[in-house]
Amino acid sequence: MFLLVFGVLIGILSLLYTNSLVNDLEKEERKNVQLWAEGMKRLGQMESGTGDISIILEVIKKNETVPMIVVDEDDQILFVKNLDTLRQNNEKYLRKQLEEMKLQNPPIINYLTEDIKQYVYYKDSVLLKRLLYYPYIQLAIILVFLWIAYYAFNSTRKAEQNQVWLGMAKETAHQLGTPISSLLAWVELLSEDKQVQQNILTEIRKDVSRLEIIADRFSKIGSDPKLSEILLAEQILKTIAYMKLRVSSKVMFDDNLTQFKDFTCYINPPLFDWVIENLFKNAIDAMDGKGKITVEVTDANQFLYIDISDTGKGIAKSHYKTIFNPGYTTKKRGWGLGLSLTKRIIEEYHKGRIFVKRSEVNKGTTFRIALKKQHTA
Ligand SMILES: Nc1ncnc2c1ncn2[C@@H]1O[C@H](COP(=O)(O)OP(=O)(O)OP(=O)(O)O)[C@@H](O)[C@H]1O
Ligand SMILES: [Mg+2]
Repeated sequence: MFLLVFGVLIGILSLLYTNSLVNDLEKEERKNVQLWAEGMKRLGQMESGTGDISIILEVIKKNETVPMIVVDEDDQILFVKNLDTLRQNNEKYLRKQLEEMKLQNPPIINYLTEDIKQYVYYKDSVLLKRLLYYPYIQLAIILVFLWIAYYAFNSTRKAEQNQVWLGMAKETAHQLGTPISSLLAWVELLSEDKQVQQNILTEIRKDVSRLEIIADRFSKIGSDPKLSEILLAEQILKTIAYMKLRVSSKVMFDDNLTQFKDFTCYINPPLFDWVIENLFKNAIDAMDGKGKITVEVTDANQFLYIDISDTGKGIAKSHYKTIFNPGYTTKKRGWGLGLSLTKRIIEEYHKGRIFVKRSEVNKGTTFRIALKKQHTA
């Protein structure tokens, strides 16, 4: 914003300055034409052989830039100067030029004798015209420059953010790796001990495998994840089954996905699960632990639409986009990262789209994910 204001300010200052230059030059050009007209008049009045006409000729010759047309009292063209020499005999062209000149400047009236008048019309020289355009060209250049600078600055910043994001994800996956493998080893050791209750070990195994899944997600996000053709309904049902065990029984899942059971899509399963889980968690939060979550899949030519709806508190229209910003949260214990991660996984890793399809305050929300059916590398 600051740069833009600065650029426009420079443009305005330059416009004002050039304007005053143009005014001065215009006056100068009018004087030149007057001088020329005076010269012509003198030349006409001089009887041949009387005095030195070289100075007068010099004055007349000197004007080589201002285009002029001299007409008599009946508007007949008598003389043309500094116009396109190739078209000097083209009446239509000359008339057009004359009209232009008449609009631009009042004529200089030259009294050859007391009752013979000539009108000298003229228009801005090429130099003057160029000077007139100059500030606009300058402003355009400044704006283009600012735009390039802004674009470059922005992409560097984004690249930096990317780097941090990827680095953190990789590091997390890496650091989780060691304790997870030793946990697995401990569990195996414990399983040989007959005194340890086996059902406790089963639960620990579940938690360790959950930790493995989490580490796997982070490692996928930190690298270039592979996409493969997956049965969509089956994949979503796994997450629903996982969620059902962990939320109150007042949250219903409309998991009737049988009609979509054959739909396939190119996805990276661990990352896709993460997306669905994030959306479900948000839906559950929005419903305060009571309501219904519906999943619907639609086949739309090249895309599959996955619509996830809840009966929660809804989102105001003005926030449809901001909710995806990192750090945006309305929850006491929220990080505001769920949706920005979700968006990133869908858009950057799957080349798809995610957005709020519809939402009504206190009624519910539908998020739509659009995924390509075919994989394009
Ligand atoms: N289904 C929904 N219904 C109503 N509001 C929602 C819904 N999903 C997201 N929001 C709003 O968008 C905000 C951002 O969501 P996001 O998942 O990015 O962060 P969070 O859930 O607040 O925190 P985090 O996911 O990092 O724990 C939420 O705080 C909430 O206000
Ligand atoms: Mg969330």
